[in-house]
This record gives sequence, structure tokens and C-alpha cells, in this order.
Amino acid sequence: MESDYKRILVTSALPYANGPLHLGHLAGAYLPADIYVRYQRLKKRDVVYICGSDEHGVPITIAAERKKVSPQSIVDEFHYRNKEAFAKFGIAFDYYGRTSAKIHHETSQEIFLRLHKKGIFKVKTEKQLFDKKANMFLADRYVKGTCPVCSNPEAYGDQCEKCGSTLSPSELINPKSAITGEPPEYRETKHWYLPLGDFQENVAKWIETRKHWKTNVLGQVKSWLSEGLADRAVTRDLSWGVPVPLEEAKGKVLYVWFDAPIGYISATKEWAVLQGRPDLWKLYWQDNHTKLVHFIGKDNIVFHCIMFPATLMELGDYVLPDNVPANEFLNLQGNKLSTSRNYAVWLDDYLQKFPVDPLRYYLTFNAPETKDADFTWQDFQQHNNSELADIMGNFINRTLTFAGKQFNGCIPERGVTDELDKQMLAILQDAPQKIGDLIEEYEFRRAIIALVDIGRAANKYFNDQEPWRSAKDNKSKCATTISICIHAVQTLALLMQPFMPESAARTWAMLGFTGNIQEIPWDTAGDCLLTPGAAFGPVSILFRKFEDTEIQPEIDRLRAISEAMFPAPATEKKEPETPKIKYEDFAKLDLRIARVLEAEKVEKADKLLKLLIQIGSEQRQIIAGVAKYYTPQEMIGKKIVVIANLEPAKIRGLESNGMLLAAEDEKGEFSVLMPEKDLDSGAKIR
Ligand code: MF3
Ligand code: ZN
Repeated sequence: MESDYKRILVTSALPYANGPLHLGHLAGAYLPADIYVRYQRLKKRDVVYICGSDEHGVPITIAAERKKVSPQSIVDEFHYRNKEAFAKFGIAFDYYGRTSAKIHHETSQEIFLRLHKKGIFKVKTEKQLFDKKANMFLADRYVKGTCPVCSNPEAYGDQCEKCGSTLSPSELINPKSAITGEPPEYRETKHWYLPLGDFQENVAKWIETRKHWKTNVLGQVKSWLSEGLADRAVTRDLSWGVPVPLEEAKGKVLYVWFDAPIGYISATKEWAVLQGRPDLWKLYWQDNHTKLVHFIGKDNIVFHCIMFPATLMELGDYVLPDNVPANEFLNLQGNKLSTSRNYAVWLDDYLQKFPVDPLRYYLTFNAPETKDADFTWQDFQQHNNSELADIMGNFINRTLTFAGKQFNGCIPERGVTDELDKQMLAILQDAPQKIGDLIEEYEFRRAIIALVDIGRAANKYFNDQEPWRSAKDNKSKCATTISICIHAVQTLALLMQPFMPESAARTWAMLGFTGNIQEIPWDTAGDCLLTPGAAFGPVSILFRKFEDTEIQPEIDRLRAISEAMFPAPATEKKEPETPKIKYEDFAKLDLRIARVLEAEKVEKADKLLKLLIQIGSEQRQIIAGVAKYYTPQEMIGKKIVVIANLEPAKIRGLESNGMLLAAEDEKGEFSVLMPEKDLDSGAKIR
């Protein structure tokens, strides 16, 4: 941590209180934040971790209408349920607030009024869609219609989920009310807009100072900036939300994305009250020595990196985020999660059958840190069984069992150390710094891999020293080996804490320590804290293996849903057979192996990448529709297959001199074709 920071404020996106939590939530914004916070606490830093329920917005009222209950009863139900689910997964917030809290309404209104008094808002009277039957304006998701970009007939007023375009209700073709299904009419209404375009220069300047941000985050931010920021309405004609505190805006509420991030501030205020120091929140939000970090999923980037910071900049007396380490999405068994179709793994459900820590392990090991990741039950099982059971658990268990038999369940005295002993001790000594640095850099995947590597090294050390032999003819060497192995167990327990706190505490107890493991500073984890002669506690299995019989039903459940979502084409309706061709027809194609030298996004075309490729001694440019599936970074260096003799074409004004080959299956899994061996570029395909 840069030394001029005195304290850290960590937030995780406030989840909508309109439904239960699933794996995707955990992997995106909560688990990485929790690991970060637990680590900072062990480093004895001043850190506060804030979250809470997002209880406003159309997702809530639509859920209420669907269930025919009031919005309040929806948010009450899910606020408590979600708070409890987080607690069960060990997500250790300092405070979990909710945006229906009085202090939140007051804080949001106060911030709105301050901006209003500064004359920041543009007030516009415009025609908007109105449902006569329901007697209300149709904001955001209350309108459905055909997407003007991709013709998806089920697009929403704020977004098309098929092509990802951001929309406004008036752009939809054939709009229909999501409540009554009626075609809406236009009526005049007045709204308050945040003129983001006016702030663009300041935002861009500030973003220039954020060179340390993740590339996936900066990429999105820069693309928003290059498209130019537009005015954003911060008021809505809805009945559920924070009332706009102006006489002339009666019946209107604040836009949910205006009030929700302010929830971080109001929850910090509530936390401060509980500390008995109501002003304490100011230190975390208004003192420049605070390092503010927002953990979010990629769909929240524009709000946390542009809209909210721009608002805070205008206020002038708030800190801006030091970092926004947003994650990409987690898919499930090869498909997108779908909460409405129950295609998800719900946290409550998971806990009925499996323990917490293996999930924390696997979601970190397989985190969508730089690109979308896929959760499969098979992969989860495999990594649990190999890294947790066979490496970590096995090492801890064999060490303590062996020591139980050979040394009466007591920690043996350490004698002279040989080369292997010294190597093992050096690994333990260096571990806190190594893993700590990775956590500090938000590299949680690499951090947890480094942790398992220590377990691996310790297992190897045990094998190489063969204590079962020295037990017979060199008891003092055996004692030294086992003393170092127990030391390794102690280091593993301490370093496991941010990732797998329950297992860390259990290991601590097995070692015979009675105090709270959380009190031991991170930096001492590599030192030997054991007392020779002291007895350790009873030993039990730390990580069990998962059997096929418990994994298979989970796979089957999801497969049944995915088959209903993407029905296999019925056999009668076979695709028309393609006519047979002669070899000469095939030979007309000049198919070659090419190497990608450079790759960049094509501006204003979210599907296209511009590639510079090498075919033998020749270099040329092609435009490929792969941007949805590959980042430019991922394409660079790849060996691909191209049609080299395709007539040149202009795509979006850019010359494309060839075409790459790719395939997509029924599930929507997409891949460019690549040779199985490392062939030279220019190689001909026949
Ligand atoms: N409820 C939003 C979502 O789930 C996240 C809100 S984050 C906050 O996408 F900043 F607004 F609080
Ligand atoms: Zn679309």
C-alpha cells in the first residue's frame, strides 16, 4: 500500500434485494473484496468494509408486481436473507446497510440538493412513454420492444440483453408496456439531468492518473469516453425510491443509480454511529489519506468509474476511488446464468450439500479476473479433490498423524538443519510477502495458487526427507523434519485465512493453539510460533473429497434447464443438406496458418477486431468479428487459420484482406480455429 494512505475503505456493489444470491454474485464483487479486507486486517491496517442492499429501482418493483406484494415486503425478505447468506459464506462486512434506511434517504436528498443549488443539473421537459391503463410513465425496464440494433423483439427500455446495447425507452421499435402489454403514448414530463458531457474533461484527466487499473476496466472506461458522455437523467416518474426533495418535482424519485452508490456513504454513516463516533464517516470519505476501493462486476463499471466519481468531483469534498478492480462474468456449465430460469447455483442451496471453503477456494482459483470464467461442477470437484484434499489436507493430516504416533502428539524439538530443511524454511519465510504482494495487486488467483504451491512444496519436502525411515535410525533428524512440517502447517493455516477462514481456524485448533488465529499478524506467518514439547489438538480431516454421486445430480439439474433454454433441433427439421463439392472446388481455397502480430478494437463496432497478421513473409490486415469473445490481448500471438485468397473487402471503412476461420456451437461457445501443433505461419492447409 502506498505509504501516504492511512486507512482503507472497501465497498462491494450493493446487490438488489429482489432475489437470492448465487455463485456469480460471490465470484464477482464479494469474495475478492472479502479476501482483500481480511488480509488488510491481518496486516493491522485501518480498514472498513461496507456493503448493503440496493432496495430501489425497477428490478424491485417488477419483482413485487410479479409476486403481487408490496416492494417493501420484497426488500425486507431479501435484505435479511442475503445478509445471512453472506454471513454464512464468511463475507465479513463491517456494516451491511440498506437504501430504504432513513439516513440513506436524507443523505441522497442532501447530495441532490447541494448539486441543485450549485446549478449543476440541466432540467429538461420531454415527451416520454406513458401507460394510460396503468396510469404511469414507463421508465427503463417497464418498456419492452424490438431492439433497433439487432431486432431482438424482447429488448428492454434501458438495454438489449441480446446484443448488449444501451438503449433509452424511446429508441425501441413497437414499444409495449411491460405491465399491461399496451402500446404506450407520449406525454410531457420534466426531469433533472446530470450533464456528464460537461464533466468529460475532468473525468478523462482523472482517469489518466489511474494507470494502475485493470486493463478490462480501463478499456471499458476509455470506450465510454471516446463515444462522448451524454446527459443522464437522475430523476424518474416512479412511486418507489428516494423522493426528489423539490416542490416542483412532487411524485418523482431519484434514479436508482443516483442514490445506490450514495448508499456506500450512508452505510458508513450508520457504521460510524454504531462505533459511538457519528462523525467518523468523514475520515473515510472526506480525508485524502483514505484509499477507497470499489469491488464490482463489469456491468457496473460506468457507474463506479464515471458517473459516481463525476458526482463526487462536483461536490468537491469527497475522496475518489484509488481502484475499481471489476471482475468479468462467471458462466455456469458453459451457459450464461439466468436467474429467471433458475439456471444458477443459489448460495442457500449449495450450503445444504457442500462446505463453504471449497467454494471460496474454487471461485478464487477460477475467478473471472481478466475474462469471463466458467463454473462447472466437474471442475469444482476436480480442484477440490486434488488441491484441497490431496495436497493441502493431505499434508496437514499426514504431518499431524505422523507426529501423533512418533512424538506422542507433541511438537518435537528441532535439531541441526540440512540443505532441504533450509530450503523449506526459506519458502515459509518468504511466503507472507509473496502472497501479500499479490493480494495487494488484486491478483487473487495467483495468490491462491501460490498458497497451494507451498502445500505442494511441503508435501515434497515430507517425501524427500522420508521421516518414516529416519524414525527408525535417526530420531533427531526425524524430529527436525517433523518440527519443520508442523511449522509449515502453522504457516499454511495463517496464510489460508483470507481465502478459507473456517479451515484456517480449524487447522489452528488442531495445532493446539487456543487463542484466536485472527490476532496473529500476517507478517509473522512464516516464523515458527510453536513451542517444542507442547501438545497439539485432536486431528480430523480438513478437506473431504467430493464423490461423483453428489456432483452428478447438480450437473443433471442444470442440463435439464439448459436443454429447455436451448432445445436441440428436432430431428424432422434437419438442416438442409449442403450439396457435395469436388476436390477442385476445395482446392480453390488458399487456406493458411497465420500468426497474429497486432490486434485492436475497431472503434464504435463492438464485434470487430482489427488484426495485423503474418502469412509466411507477408503481413496484412484483416477485420474479424471476434471482439465479443476475444480481447485484443488474447488474440496477439495466436496461430490462426485464414482464407488467404478471399477478395479484399472494406468493413467499416477498413481494408480486410482475408478471413479467419472460427466456429460456434449450439450453446454459443465460440472459438477461432488453431493448429494443434506450433506450425510456421504461411503453412498451407490441405
Ligand atoms: N444493485 C446494483 C446491481 O446489482 C449494484 C449497485 S452498486 C451501487 O447491479 F453502487 F450502486 F451501490
Ligand atoms: Zn439488440
